[in-house]
Order: sequence, then C-alpha cells, then structure tokens
Amino acid sequence: MLFARTLTLLMMLLLVLLPACSPRRWMEATQHPINPSPTPDEQQKSPSPGTIDLPEPKTEGAMTLEEAIAKRRSVREFSPEPLTLDEIGQLLWSAQGVTHPAGYRSAPSAGALYPLEVYVATPEATYHYEPNGHRLTIQMQGDLRPQLYAAALQQESVLNAPAVFVIAAVYERTAKKYGKERSPRYVHLEAGHAAQNLLLQAVALDLGAVPIGAFYDNKVKETLALPVDQQPLYLIPVGHPR
Ligand SMILES: Cc1cc2nc3c(=O)[nH]c(=O)nc-3n(C[C@H](O)[C@H](O)[C@H](O)COP(=O)(O)O)c2cc1C
Repeated sequence: MLFARTLTLLMMLLLVLLPACSPRRWMEATQHPINPSPTPDEQQKSPSPGTIDLPEPKTEGAMTLEEAIAKRRSVREFSPEPLTLDEIGQLLWSAQGVTHPAGYRSAPSAGALYPLEVYVATPEATYHYEPNGHRLTIQMQGDLRPQLYAAALQQESVLNAPAVFVIAAVYERTAKKYGKERSPRYVHLEAGHAAQNLLLQAVALDLGAVPIGAFYDNKVKETLALPVDQQPLYLIPVGHPR
C-alpha cells in the first residue's frame, strides 16, 4: 500500500517536472527575447525627430594641456566664420560630455548629480545639449543672439560670436542631497569647472572665447525659454579670433 502511494506520488512529480525540463521550455526560460523592448536608458538614447547627433568627440589633440592653459586669454572679437558641428560637439563634450560607461562626465559634479544644462545659440537656432547620446535637440528656432546681447548689457562679444554657449543649472538636483544652504556653492563651482573645460577646449581648437557673468538672469531665461527650475549662470561666446 505504502509502496503504491509513493509510486503514484513519484509519477505525479515526474508529470509536473518533465515539460519544464524539455529543451524548448528551458530555452524559453533562459534565452533573452530577440527584440527586447528598450530599457528606459536605451529609450533615452534612441534619437527622435528634431535631434542632431553630434560627431564622436576626440580624446586626443595637437595641443598639450599646458599650452592651452598658457595660451588661454579672454577673446571678445570674432570673425563671422561659423563653427563646424565637430567644433560645437567637441566644446559641448568638454563641458558636460559623458566620459565613463557609468555616466560620469568631463567635469566633476558633487554626488554625481549633474545639475548643469548646456545650450548653444547659433545664427540658425538654439540647441540643448543632451550628454546621454551626445546630441542636440532644438530649443528655439532662429537667431537669439541679439536678444542675448541685449540681456548681457550690450556686450558686443555676445552679438558677434558665431556660437554663444549658455550654462544653466537646476539647483534642486544638488539641493536634494546637500541641502538648500550648501548646494548653491557646489552648483557654482561646477559651472566653473564646466566653463573652464570649454574655455581650454576652445584654445585647443584654435578658437577664442570669453566667460560672461554680467547679464540679466530673467532676460536670458526668457529669451531661451528655459524651464522654470533652470537658472542661467554663464554665457560663453566662442568663435574664430579676429
Ligand atoms: C565670473 C566671471 C565673470 C566674467 N564676466 C565677464 C563679462 O561679463 N564680460 C566680459 O567681457 N568678461 C567677463 N569675464 C572675463 C574677465 O573679464 C577676464 O577673465 C579677466 O579680465 C582676465 O582676463 P583673461 O580671461 O584673459 O585672463 C568674467 C570672468 C569671470 C571669471
């Protein structure tokens, strides 16, 4: 009797386990689907209409860091020659480009919270830089440099540069971890890191640039239609020195 019961139990167990052990079921359970739906990170990386993929940034150049430091001077007069997409991409990468598979960027950031957002105003349009994917999205069509010039107390360098880079910040990103009192200091230090990278990269590309802090925040914000939580910290006109 006991033997018969054990045998029945064993048979039932085999019936349950066998299909799961078949090669097909095993494959289904262990193989990744051929076309897995993209992860949120991958979705973020796939380009959408209205975006411009930037050329791969260079990590080697003709000028040494020491030369770039020694040569850097604020340049405020530019020829009308436009910047190439290569140059714009390289300058943006130097400021906030992703330089590590884990997402770390070219400039250090307190807690790796990355509060900075970078824009570039050209004669055609103003673009927002997306470090993930190293690409641009259109922020505003048309030439906003005259309005930025007005916002920056009519400083000619803003009007005449073929590209005006804007470093803005979302203070809340850093405040979440470091608090309202300490975080503004960190955000401003980071803007300095990013700006210095861009200024030195400009020198290494034989371009000139000047960091500009004198402007009406609200006018720059309005001109660029920045989101409410973003504050402009620096304008950096860049071009070929005249
Ligand atoms: C925070 C900050 C704000 C600045 N704002 C302006 C500005 O509004 N307009 C300008 O022409 N230069 C500006 N500059 C550039 C300085 O005038 C310049 O760095 C200084 O004269 C030293 O010259 P150098 O950059 O050639 O070494 C600024 C520099 C810093 C660090």
